[in-house]
Amino acid sequence: MGKNNEQVRLDRLLANSGYGSRSDVRSLVRSRLVTVNGVPVERFDIHINIAEDKVVVDGRPLKVSVHVYYMMNKPSGYVCSSKGGAHPTVFDLMEDADRGKRLGGELGIVGRLDLDTEGLLILTTDGNLNHRLTSPKHHVPRTYFVQLENALSEAEQKQYSEAVAAGVEMPPEDHEPGAVCRGGELEWEGKDTCRLTIYEGLYHEVKRIFAALGNRVIFLKRIRMNRLTLDPALAPGEYRELSEQELSALTLTNAIL
Ligand code: URA
Repeated sequence: MGKNNEQVRLDRLLANSGYGSRSDVRSLVRSRLVTVNGVPVERFDIHINIAEDKVVVDGRPLKVSVHVYYMMNKPSGYVCSSKGGAHPTVFDLMEDADRGKRLGGELGIVGRLDLDTEGLLILTTDGNLNHRLTSPKHHVPRTYFVQLENALSEAEQKQYSEAVAAGVEMPPEDHEPGAVCRGGELEWEGKDTCRLTIYEGLYHEVKRIFAALGNRVIFLKRIRMNRLTLDPALAPGEYRELSEQELSALTLTNAIL
């Protein structure tokens, strides 16, 4: 989970470790509630050696969290890229302090969503986790809510479900070669709406699956990744840090161990 032997300013370390905003943690230090190597400190701009110095906050040893993990409800119209162009990026939705360089490094996007796709987007500085979740070899499940252009009869829905379970053959698209998807699961909600769970995250996978079946996706929202579900309280464009439980739901499963 990254190197711990770097020097970090005390206020940055505390803010990164979940003790509130920069101004919250500065008040905490001024109240003499923070000790470094047993000595109460008054200055928040001193540098701490994460590997060696013992920081205690209000009687409790500091648990250094080097990496940050955010869940965002991505709205349509934002690109999953750090470079702006014709459209704003998902980083434009974040506070400056959250998207800037962090203790664990640059914030990266876990599994990009298309410009018009909405829903669960994970952003983290933890590159190892990012790789484990997105590598097609690890077969991490991701579930999407899909609305199709053409409504289907029950018999057609059954055909689609069987085709998805068997693995749909997708033709090449843009720079990507054709591929046969690993089998997934379809759950029908209405005549033109379903939930699709897939295991690879190939380029435009959901849209290409339904195009290969002779239909078209007109609305797409990711609602789950591994065992982590999008928080329904997050409005489009909102984001927040994952709780420890949510981080476990995202990481600690057979799928990626
Ligand atoms: N599959 C797609 O086709 N688009 C996405 O944004 C995500 C999965």
